[in-house]
Order: sequence, then C-alpha cells, then structure tokens
Amino acid sequence: MEYEIKCSKCGRKTRDLLSYKCKCGQPLKVQLLQGFEAEKIRWKNYTVWRYSSFFPYVEEKAIITLGEGWTPLVKFSKNAYFKLESLNPTGSFKDRGSTVLISALHKLIGNEGYIAEDSSGNAGASIAAYAARAELKARIYVPESVSGPKFNQIRFYGADVVKVSGSRSEVTREAQKAEEKKFYIGHVLHPLFRDGIRSLAYEVAEQFEWRVPERIYLPVSAGTLLLSVIEGFNHLYSSGVIDEFPTIVACQTRQVSPLYHRFKNLSYTPPEKITSIADALVSVNPPLLELMVEELKAVKGEVEVVDEGETRKSFVELAEKGFFVEPSSAVAYAAYKKHLVNREITGQEKTLIVLTGSGLKTTVQQN
Ligand SMILES: Cc1ncc(COP(=O)(O)O)c(C=O)c1O
Ligand SMILES: [Zn+2]
Repeated sequence: MEYEIKCSKCGRKTRDLLSYKCKCGQPLKVQLLQGFEAEKIRWKNYTVWRYSSFFPYVEEKAIITLGEGWTPLVKFSKNAYFKLESLNPTGSFKDRGSTVLISALHKLIGNEGYIAEDSSGNAGASIAAYAARAELKARIYVPESVSGPKFNQIRFYGADVVKVSGSRSEVTREAQKAEEKKFYIGHVLHPLFRDGIRSLAYEVAEQFEWRVPERIYLPVSAGTLLLSVIEGFNHLYSSGVIDEFPTIVACQTRQVSPLYHRFKNLSYTPPEKITSIADALVSVNPPLLELMVEELKAVKGEVEVVDEGETRKSFVELAEKGFFVEPSSAVAYAAYKKHLVNREITGQEKTLIVLTGSGLKTTVQQN
C-alpha cells in the first residue's frame, strides 16, 4: 500500500474510498507512504496527472480529465507572482479536487447510483463537469443565494440542482440525507477531493524550479485549498525536495472570518446575512476549522482579514491590470496589499498570490 486513509483525530484507518468521514465523525485524511521524487513526474503531461504517481489510489485507465492543472504562473511585479487557477477548465482551482475524486470513484458508483454534492457554486460546477465527463449522474445542493453564472454552469453540465434555503450548514444536511442510490461525496469533507488539490503545491514548487516563494496568500472559506496546499508542501519538505517551507497566509473577509478569529483566540459572531461580493467565501462555521487551526499553526502560518472596501478595490485593480478574477480571489491580493501598506512585509519577499476563480463568474456590476 502506498497510501493510507486515516482519521485526522482518532487515527482509525479505512480502505473505503467512498467514506467521507471517520466513524467517530471527524475528517479523514489521505497520507502518502512514499516520498516525492521528481523522477516520477510524467514530464510530457501538462495536467494534474503529471503527478499521477502521487495519487496511487487512481487507476490510470479510470482517469477522468478535462485538462485541469499546470495553470500559468505569471510574474506580476518584481517579487510578486500570480498562480492563475482561474484558468482551470471550469474556472476554478476546484477542478484539481474533482478530477481526482471522480477518477477514483466513478467506477464504484456506476450508472445506477448518483453522486450528491453541496456547494456554494464553484465546487458544484466543477463536480458537475467531471461527472458529465464520466457519464455519472450528479445532484448538486446549493444555497438559495447561489450566484447566477455558477448556477447556470451547473445546469448546463447536466446535473440536477436542488436549492436549499437557510444557512450553508443546512445545505450540507440536506445533501447528506440518506436516499436510495445516493452517494454523498461532499467536497469539503471528502478526503480525496482535498487530496487532489495537493497537486497545486507540487506545481508551484516545480514552476519555481524547486525554490518555493517565501510567502503564499490564499483565500479561505471551508479550508479545502488551505489544508491541501499545506499537505502538498509538507510532502515536498519531508521528502527533501524543498528546503524552506513557505509562510502560508490564510486570507478571509471580515464578514466571514472564523479561522482568523479562532487562530487568534478571538470570539467570532457571524453576520446575520453575508453581503460581501466575495460570494465564494461563505463558510461561517466550517467543519474543518479545528484541523485548519492545527495545521496552519504547525507550519507557522498567518491569518489576515480584509474589509469589503479592500476586497472591491483589489478586485477592480486586478481587472484594470488585466487579471479578471472572482472577488473571492481578490481577497488574497487585498491581504497582500494590506501587508505592504502596513509594512508587515517589505515587498522584497518572493510572494505568490493564488487567484482561485474566474471573473467571468461574477455578478458584480461596474459602477
Ligand atoms: C473562487 C474561490 N476561492 C476560494 C475559495 C475558498 O476555498 P475553500 O472553501 O477551500 O477554503 C473558494 C471556495 O468555494 C472559491 O470558489
Ligand atoms: Zn476517527
């Protein structure tokens, strides 16, 4: 066995690729039992599957791909770089998770069953696309407030959509309700979805020729991106492929900032209604919160929040410089700018900002 799927709390192992949580209720995690070796990269493959050796639970013949990954790394200023995850096939980084999850599971589900996923939009659109490619039935549960373009995207991929009123947690509850032929594979909890996003760390390291940036800014909501990027860098670091661990900066909006507050031991009261234009960052009570705090502290990461005005300004500024990304992605750039203005960083540090989603999905109108 080259990997284990293990509970992040009690350590219990499972071999069931369909499990989305441990019997004790806590999140599961994939652990590779092999180091990262650059010789195992498939040099001519410019997708996530370049790193197929490090996803040993996926059979080569079962791979479902839309050409995700190997997204451009663009130099933005003297020391700042953007990773254009917005250029993935469905317009967000989620495709890394979907390609791995759907490749690993589609044969176990077959034509009789259907997969159920809950998402504020991007993950739902991504899972719907990969399900379509695998000829798998999908039902996506979304909050009533789902943004128009993402909803449209899910529908065009041919998935059933169920709109659920109430909080984000209620959407999850509805999606998890047991029904005949239903396989719940919710992307927040499912360990294989998170595991696919690990490929982002490999790519960043490889594109920087194994000298990783000192600082990496990421927008955080449910924490799948954050935890997977940490996992990927941990793998590279423990394998001796990189010798410095980047400082990971988890960026949130002030409205939705449970991680920021818990990390700093501050109390957090979510707003009654989320009105931020960063409409992908809505997890006020993320199930992976404890894990995020633990892992971010273990790698000496940082947290930051930005106000609505800073998000909007950064979104517009990025567009005016040619980078049309989702307002949720602009949150990471806003945090980077804030650190420059507050002189928390000098600007001499080699820095990466992950631009997670495409601006073509936004409903924000120009003034
Ligand atoms: C564009 C975009 N950026 C960032 C995030 C945050 O990712 P996570 O929920 O994994 O923290 C999301 C999640 O939906 C997203 O769609
Ligand atoms: Zn457990």
